[in-house]
Amino acid sequence: MTDVNKKILIVYHSQGGNTKEAAEAVAKGAKQINNTEVVIKQALKATIENLKSCDAIAVGSPDYFSYMAGGLKDFFDRTYYPTQGSVTDKPCGIFVTHGGGGKAVKSVESICNTFKFKMVMEPVLVQGMPDSKSATTLIDLGKKLAEAAKR
Ligand SMILES: Cc1cc2nc3c(=O)[nH]c(=O)nc-3n(C[C@H](O)[C@H](O)[C@H](O)COP(=O)(O)O)c2cc1C
Repeated sequence: MTDVNKKILIVYHSQGGNTKEAAEAVAKGAKQINNTEVVIKQALKATIENLKSCDAIAVGSPDYFSYMAGGLKDFFDRTYYPTQGSVTDKPCGIFVTHGGGGKAVKSVESICNTFKFKMVMEPVLVQGMPDSKSATTLIDLGKKLAEAAKR
């Protein structure tokens, strides 16, 4: 029997590139686990089908005015009703980049709880561009998501 790949969706918004870099580190970690396929999407382009069809999800946002970026909020707004009840307990991880605050993580956590996603670890907070230490934590998040994902 052939193994069917587990699909990890990484949805992020990034204006300046910091959160994009963080998303790529999460993807690197997920790819280290066997039979894993990574779909990495800018939040404004991520679809309802992307969310429905994934086996685990990572959501990433910069902290803009102590709240998540509008692009990620748009993704949540578009996908909530169409996926309600069908994404309960989906393994999830959160990553937020910030300029020294990071309060936006609360807004992301709150919405993920409303979707009833199941967190695989504490949210990862990164100040600015990920350095090698935070990249290691982001890679770990990707690995944990891929390990928790079930086909
Ligand atoms: C419009 C705007 C608002 C911001 N507000 C905050 C803030 O409230 N708290 C904070 O810690 N950083 C804030 N920042 C800094 C960003 O969160 C930080 O630079 C982040 O890493 C940018 O991610 P990006 O490069 O993926 O866009 C703000 C940046 C912008 C552009």
